Amino acid sequence: MKKIINRLTVIGSGAMGSQIAMVSALAGIDVYLRDISEESLRKAEESLNGHMKKRILKGKLSSQEVEEAFSRLHFVTSLEEALNDTEFVIEAIVENLEVKRQLFSEVDKLVSEDVIIATNSSTIVSSKLADATKRPHKVCNLHFFNPVLVMELVEVVKGLHTSNETAATAVEFVKQINKTPILLKKEISGFVANRILGALIDEAIYLLENDVATVEEIDLACKKALNHPIGPFALLDLTGIDVNYYIRQILYEETGDESKKPQRIIKEKYFNGEYGRKTGKGFYTYS
Ligand code: 3HC
Repeated sequence: MKKIINRLTVIGSGAMGSQIAMVSALAGIDVYLRDISEESLRKAEESLNGHMKKRILKGKLSSQEVEEAFSRLHFVTSLEEALNDTEFVIEAIVENLEVKRQLFSEVDKLVSEDVIIATNSSTIVSSKLADATKRPHKVCNLHFFNPVLVMELVEVVKGLHTSNETAATAVEFVKQINKTPILLKKEISGFVANRILGALIDEAIYLLENDVATVEEIDLACKKALNHPIGPFALLDLTGIDVNYYIRQILYEETGDESKKPQRIIKEKYFNGEYGRKTGKGFYTYS
């Protein structure tokens, strides 16, 4: 039987969490977006407002649809308030295993036993979080893509501990918020899309570090020869060079494989604080 979700909690109001919350509110769900930082919640609301205004101007959404969605979207700092009567939880906080495990354990104590607790993490598989709860069969990855308001795919990743029912409900939830799910039947580092993207980015960095072509030229090749919407360096700036650095660092620590370490150019940008769009400078400069 299809389970319709009426009330959702999203924890973490960064670029991913806030847009997951917005997409869900637009789909008619009552959403509680929780963050420990008031400032982050304020920024999230401001940014979502900006995106919604553009969509209204372009005639993609009516002001009434947006108003109604915002009336369903609650910005809260209290975890108890965010989880009260919730039916589904998505965690989208910092990529840190211990912090996530602590949160999963707290959430587990505060929500009813039939509630699914999903992580949006692209690097931490849910088997590393499931045993922080008393409901491992209700834990899975639900991996969205940046920017969530635009990107249609969501990967539902079933660990050995995840029940078939949980995977099926997660897939239905993704459809309910008007996204396209794919179900990964087993956990694999990077999942599907990021594995393919990672190979592309690695090659782009190899070409740059070996002085074969410039950032702009490599991006042009992907856009004009392969029809990608943006090139790999513009994409790194969008998703965050810091995120790429952390991902590679985790991959290296997990595998001990030296080739997975952050590459020289990524390390330089990371230690210079050049994270991409969010800091105004990455491979490109933003005003
Ligand atoms: N947030 C929300 N919406 C955004 C946005 C953002 N940060 N940036 C752009 N948009 C929206 C615009 O409002 C516009 O919406 P509309 O079609 O409703 O008018 C639409 O995207 C197109 O924007 P633009 O015309 O300004 O610019 P582009 O044509 O360059 O599109 C893009 C921007 C959609 C980001 C496009 O460049 C793209 O598709 N890039 C590839 C994104 C990608 O590969 N994402 C996957 C990243 S990997 C990942 O997320 C994995 C995770 O684990 C890190």
